[in-house]
Amino acid sequence: MEKEHKGKNITWHASRVSVAIREQLLGQRGYVVWLTGLSGSGKSTIACVLEERLIREGHPAYILDGDNIRHGLNRDLGFSAQDRDENIRRVGEVAAMFSQAGVVAIAAFISPYAKGRQEAREAAGEAQFIEIFLDTPLADCEQRDPKGLYKKARAGQISDFTGIDAPYERPENADLVLHTERFTPPECIDQIMQCLSNRRLLAPRLASKMDLKS
Ligand code: ADX
Repeated sequence: MEKEHKGKNITWHASRVSVAIREQLLGQRGYVVWLTGLSGSGKSTIACVLEERLIREGHPAYILDGDNIRHGLNRDLGFSAQDRDENIRRVGEVAAMFSQAGVVAIAAFISPYAKGRQEAREAAGEAQFIEIFLDTPLADCEQRDPKGLYKKARAGQISDFTGIDAPYERPENADLVLHTERFTPPECIDQIMQCLSNRRLLAPRLASKMDLKS
């Protein structure tokens, strides 16, 4: 689908190498594991353990994490609804590129709006997108408060804080719902691996030799 863009006179250059050939080279499929949930729900922890498990099992994987991405690529963005939309739009596109390169992109973002998550799903393609909702209750996230941000938000020192004075739209059709308050990280990873296996994402796709143009 043709997307709206500001730049005029720009041309799309198609690659001579198919996704299937890249996947054959790496011996795996590329896809996006999208982790959504409140701050403190465990996204970064789960992303790290999942990345390590996938790599140990021979699957090239790379984490795109909200806090980290906001140090570089998205350092120009804050936490207004508009900036969060732009944050998710950019990382949705980047995650899709990783997937097309044959790599597993593990995206860990609050991504509070259903529309942004849907757009990230469309950028990657339905078959290459796994949405995982970390449904950790706000009370647990607030009790953990690993960065002391809930305390500051309650004290009025931070505004627009998700779950306090900014919204979080719960996913209604996530591929997997995780309860990090009840299961250990390795148990959560087992649930994710089972989900990936059910979706046949752990088995390599066989590419046809004809895919590489001569
Ligand atoms: S998102 O809403 O745009 O998806 P993102 O995942 O990139 O957010 O960044 C969230 C992280 O930024 C939180 O884990 C927290 O460390 C930090 N943060 C700072 N200010 C806020 C805020 N107002 N709301 C939520 N998170 C914030």
